[in-house]
Amino acid sequence: MLMAGNNLIHVNDYGLPLNAIEWLETHHQSKASERINMIQEIALPQGGFIVDAGCGPGLWTPMLAKAVGPEGRILGVDISDESLHVAHQRSIGAWYEDQVEYRRADLEQLPIELNTADIIFSANVSQYFPSPVNTFAAMRPYLKYGGRLIVKDIDFGTMRFGVLSQALQKRVLRARQKWEEKRAALGYAHEDSWIGSKLQHYLREAGYDAVVEHAYPIRRHSPLTPEYRSYLQGIAEWFLCEGAPFLSAADKAQWRRSFFSEENCIFDHPDFFCEEVEYVVSGVRNIQKETLFDEQARTQIDTHLHTFVFEPGSLTPSLSR
Ligand SMILES: C[S@@+](CC[C@H](N)C(=O)[O-])C[C@H]1O[C@@H](n2cnc3c(N)ncnc32)[C@H](O)[C@@H]1O
Repeated sequence: MLMAGNNLIHVNDYGLPLNAIEWLETHHQSKASERINMIQEIALPQGGFIVDAGCGPGLWTPMLAKAVGPEGRILGVDISDESLHVAHQRSIGAWYEDQVEYRRADLEQLPIELNTADIIFSANVSQYFPSPVNTFAAMRPYLKYGGRLIVKDIDFGTMRFGVLSQALQKRVLRARQKWEEKRAALGYAHEDSWIGSKLQHYLREAGYDAVVEHAYPIRRHSPLTPEYRSYLQGIAEWFLCEGAPFLSAADKAQWRRSFFSEENCIFDHPDFFCEEVEYVVSGVRNIQKETLFDEQARTQIDTHLHTFVFEPGSLTPSLSR
C-alpha cells in the first residue's frame, strides 16, 4: 500500500496503483459538469450496446445509461472485484438497474462475442496500460464494424496552479515524472499520467480510423467547492508523495506550506485558479482500413520471418527472401 497522509493511493489486488474508490467518487463529483458534456458530445447511439472498459465503481454508468436510452445496454468490465462489487451495489434499485451488468475480465479479453459492441468506452484507465497500443488493438475486434472506441484520460503536462511559483510546479511535476520512469524498476506496474495528449496517436497506431480528439480544459477559480478542494489536495499530496525522492527539502516544505497550511493555503488566495486539460479521443473500427492495417502487419511479420533463416546444418541465420 502506498500511503499518502489520508490514504489516497492504493495498490489493488492486481498490484496496480489505482486510486481508492472514495477518491474516484470525489474526483467524479468535482468534474461532474465537464463529464456530462463529454458524454453528450460523444453522441452515443440510442439503444446501443456499450462496454464500460475499466468501469471501476460504476460512476459513469448512469450517464452512459441515460445517453443510450431505455433500450440501450451497458456492460461494465473491470479486473477489481472490490470496484465491481461497489458498482453492482450502486446499481441495485437504481433507475438504470435493468440496463446494466458488471463482469470481471481483463480489457484485452472482453467477456463478449467478437463484433458485438457499438461502443467501447474507457475513462481514466489507459494511463495504467503497459502497452496502450496493444490493448487498444486487442479491443478492436470486439467492436462491430463502424463501432467506436472512446478513451478519456488525464494529462499532467497540462496542469497548472495559479499563485504558485511556476518553477516549483515544474520541479514537482518533473519529480513525479521521474518516479513514473523509475517505478517499473521497483516492481510497480506501469503508469503514464501524461497519456491524454498521446491518445490520438496511439489509437491510429492501433488500427482505428477517423480518430478525433476533443480537449476539455478544466478551470476553477477561488472559492473552490469542497469537492474540488479535496480533489486538488489529493493531487498535491500524491505529487509530493511520489516525487519526494527527487525533491529538495526546501521544495517539499514550500509545496506543503502552499497546499496544506492553515494560514497560507493557496486555495484561499482570492486570485487562486487551477487548470488542466482532459482528453476524449474516439476512433472507428473500419473494415477497409482494418484489412489494409492487418495486411501491413502481416507483411511486416513475413518480412521479418523471411529475413533471417537458418540453413540446414548452420548455426547462424542467413538473409533470405
Ligand atoms: C482510475 S480507475 C477508473 C475507474 C472509472 N473508469 C472511473 O473513471 O471512475 C481505473 C480502473 O481500471 C481498472 N483496470 C486497469 N487495468 C485494467 C485491465 N487491464 N483490465 C480491466 N480493468 C483494468 C482498474 O481495476 C480500475 O478500476
